[in-house]
Amino acid sequence: GSGLAVLALAGRAAWSNTEAAGLAFQPIQPNRLDTVTVPDGYSVTTVLRWGDPLFPGVAALDAMRVAAGGLLDPAAAVHQQRQFGFNCDGMGVFAIDEDRFVLCVNHEYPSAALLFPGWEEARAIRQLGEFVRARPQAVAFMQAAVGLSVVEVDRRSWRYRQDSHFNRRVTAHTPIELAGPASSHPLLNPRGVAAPLVRGTLNNCAAGTTPWRTYLTAEENIDDFFGNGAGEVPDDVANARRRFGVRTRESAYRWEFADERFDASAHPTESLKFGWIVEIDPFAPAARPKKRTALGRFKHESATPVIAADGRVAVYMGDDQEFEYFYKFVTAARFDPERPTANRDLLDSGTLYVARFFDDGRGEWLPLVFGRGELTREHGFASQADVLLRCREAADRLGATPLDRPEDVAVNPQTHKVYVACTQGLDRGRGTIAFGGRDVDASTNAVNPRAPNPSGQIVEIAESHADAAATSFHWDVFVLAGAPNRDRLLAALPEVSGAALSPDMTYFAGCRDAEALGAFANPDNLGFDAGGNLWIVTDGAQPDRNNNGCFVCATEGQARGRVQQFMCGPVGAEICGCEITADGRTLLLTIQHPGERGSATGPISHWPDGGDAAPRPSLVAIQRRDGDGPLGS
Ligand code: FEO
Ligand code: CA
Ligand code: CA
Ligand code: CA
Repeated sequence: GSGLAVLALAGRAAWSNTEAAGLAFQPIQPNRLDTVTVPDGYSVTTVLRWGDPLFPGVAALDAMRVAAGGLLDPAAAVHQQRQFGFNCDGMGVFAIDEDRFVLCVNHEYPSAALLFPGWEEARAIRQLGEFVRARPQAVAFMQAAVGLSVVEVDRRSWRYRQDSHFNRRVTAHTPIELAGPASSHPLLNPRGVAAPLVRGTLNNCAAGTTPWRTYLTAEENIDDFFGNGAGEVPDDVANARRRFGVRTRESAYRWEFADERFDASAHPTESLKFGWIVEIDPFAPAARPKKRTALGRFKHESATPVIAADGRVAVYMGDDQEFEYFYKFVTAARFDPERPTANRDLLDSGTLYVARFFDDGRGEWLPLVFGRGELTREHGFASQADVLLRCREAADRLGATPLDRPEDVAVNPQTHKVYVACTQGLDRGRGTIAFGGRDVDASTNAVNPRAPNPSGQIVEIAESHADAAATSFHWDVFVLAGAPNRDRLLAALPEVSGAALSPDMTYFAGCRDAEALGAFANPDNLGFDAGGNLWIVTDGAQPDRNNNGCFVCATEGQARGRVQQFMCGPVGAEICGCEITADGRTLLLTIQHPGERGSATGPISHWPDGGDAAPRPSLVAIQRRDGDGPLGS
């Protein structure tokens, strides 16, 4: 949830605090229904479903044939290359003109158990390698189902256009340029060619939108895609893998049984080409996407750009794994709104920082620059390219603060405060432990106060002088998620840091009215409306085993932290996306993996088609039925 922040900042003069939208909707009850629930007076339009054809003459996916093995027909993979992909996640919304948007939508990963009859059964008896070897077309299908889609939609009807020249699919095979300092790293580019190409983008999670109207997509759990990584590899490969591994045995999706590129012993450096931020121009369907290596390699959850005080651009980024870090990249050059081409490669030069959170509420941005601090040859780093490739290890060296899985980031267009969703910390409080390829201090601290922390928190950051390029900040815990009407609701956080809080302690920015608060856990994606309300979507086990949902609260004023539930998703789904159109009237959510924990032949969801249809990850648009005023008002 990020493009909005940029648009809103760019057009800040148009908004003032007096226009801040008060929230006045009737909150919904959380539930376990196989539907999308919204408040009275709101409508839900399904805009794009997995398998919808994006080009003329392309067949639509038949959701009635999935259970019978329809996707194992070799033609299915060919069609999927030109259909909306699976497991939609982050998105970007770009106005073409007054009537049309072009949307970029990520397709994070394949939920193979929901795609292929027999997958779940083979997994249960440890025969998945054999299953895939006998059916390599399953891998071809999954490779076509991931990546991202670019699709034109009508701004009023929210119908997508099948014949738009903007429509595009990017998959696990699409040629992508490696750009920025690490493109010259010997492990990524052994022959030293200019503009080296890699194949495909994987595990595209949340996303962002630049001020120059391009899309940033974040490669996250790409280690899940590479198997057989136990073999001997050269020392430099082993070093690059230490903090961001590959699977030593089978990969999660078993692609290596049908496509040797994903066998980490046969192709030891292939996985290093993933785990980057990828930039794509939605208005240039033939232009090559670029992996922007200056922004570092880690499990990128998101990328949220904002314009700093002097016109440079900062990009906030989470690294979603337990005990990983929060990053910010600041461009070397300024954004030039008058000369779009001058911004084209802005993300190739600048400074990458990682955050340190002090217990007294101060914070510091530590520069990940070769030659500074311990990032030297003496400590095993060969170049800036090496610092970027081994970004997590470099951040360890600087003393960055390990967080409880930092995910999406959103910036308040009214106050410029930055909000980070930390989804959970199951191992928080265990002392010093071996985790993620190093020993880490898992003790609680002021920014990660609960031990353990199954429900997650939202952290609020105020950059010094409200400048996104600042090198210091102040921070507060904004919300400790959970069920405040049942668990202990704290009116204030303890002054004395280091005192661990228990998992049943919740905090909603000081709000004391437990009955008025929506219960939620595992904040994942965040978004802001122009009025400064924070929108939160969840991914994880919700209180009372309810489905994942969408929540909203004010961040300033009397109602600060008064979280209320706006939407509840279907069975088995996490809720992603969370973009609000610039007019404040439409909330776009992606419904990812409806029916998760079921299987192709044992479905637990039939959303959105109903009947006996296979569940389909889909993008929905939520609006007021009367069209009268912003969302939530
Ligand atoms: Fe792909 Fe961290 O969610
Ligand atoms: Ca996900
Ligand atoms: Ca996510
Ligand atoms: Ca998540």
